[in-house]
Amino acid sequence: MAAQLIKGGAISKEIREEIAKEIQDLKEKHDVTPGLATILVGEDPGSKVYVGQKEKACNNLGIYSARTDLPADTSEADLLDLVKKLNNDPKIHGILVQLPLPKHIDATRVIYAIDPDKDVDCFHPVNVGKLMIGAGRFLPCTPHGIVELLRRSDITTEGKHVVVVGRSNIVGKPVANLMLQPPPGGNATVTLCHTGTKDLATHTRMADILIVAVGRPKTITADMVKEGVVVIDVGVNRIGKTPEGKAILAGDVDFDSVQEKASAITPVPGGVGPMTITMLMRNTLEAAKPL
Ligand code: GUN
Repeated sequence: MAAQLIKGGAISKEIREEIAKEIQDLKEKHDVTPGLATILVGEDPGSKVYVGQKEKACNNLGIYSARTDLPADTSEADLLDLVKKLNNDPKIHGILVQLPLPKHIDATRVIYAIDPDKDVDCFHPVNVGKLMIGAGRFLPCTPHGIVELLRRSDITTEGKHVVVVGRSNIVGKPVANLMLQPPPGGNATVTLCHTGTKDLATHTRMADILIVAVGRPKTITADMVKEGVVVIDVGVNRIGKTPEGKAILAGDVDFDSVQEKASAITPVPGGVGPMTITMLMRNTLEAAKPL
């Protein structure tokens, strides 16, 4: 039986409508317009696209967007000065420094410099720590997007075995953490697999819900999953170009074969992807709300 497609585009649209309404309320009741500052250092084409999408999402939702594009040879000291300025700017509620940064800049130092109350990426160690103890004001965007995809598709994580493949700080570790939190968190039993895992398939075959974020196409094939599994594919891999020069994208999961066994699966593109920016908009709104 073909799997249910978990459509991130439609779910994202639904959440953005809710956010737009809340922004309107915030403006009317508190005279506050949420503001997001984005900083792009250098000319990376992928990063330019992402920052452009974030700016556009702000404009569509009525969030004030302040974008700064800096040359690739910007010094770390100048970038830190800008972050400090934005920390003190009352019009700015969220600060996002697009990663990766040029090699001469220490990304950790920059992330540490962001005021945790404006850290809408949820990358600052204070917010990562709060996430671990279930006390987070912000949830990291992609993991939160995954939670919402499951919840709004009526897929419960309660008591399920969730297997996460990939231990990145942006997706694998935080999503595993959200899944193991007690109610209203995921309340699942969690296995976190990574490059040091022996016999990956033994673990992935046990998954009721499989979340894959490794950045390698077709890492998960049909023989590695059980019948009825729910699959969340976070991978966005550029595997070629169309004759018109458009990137051809593939996930980390071999979609065609795995969908034959899965009960539900996210497509790439159009699954997890649209959710990340939507949850960034949600965090910017949360950051702007009076405490
Ligand atoms: N680069 C790739 N993904 C992200 C993200 O979610 N936030 C930031 N700041 N940079 C990124």
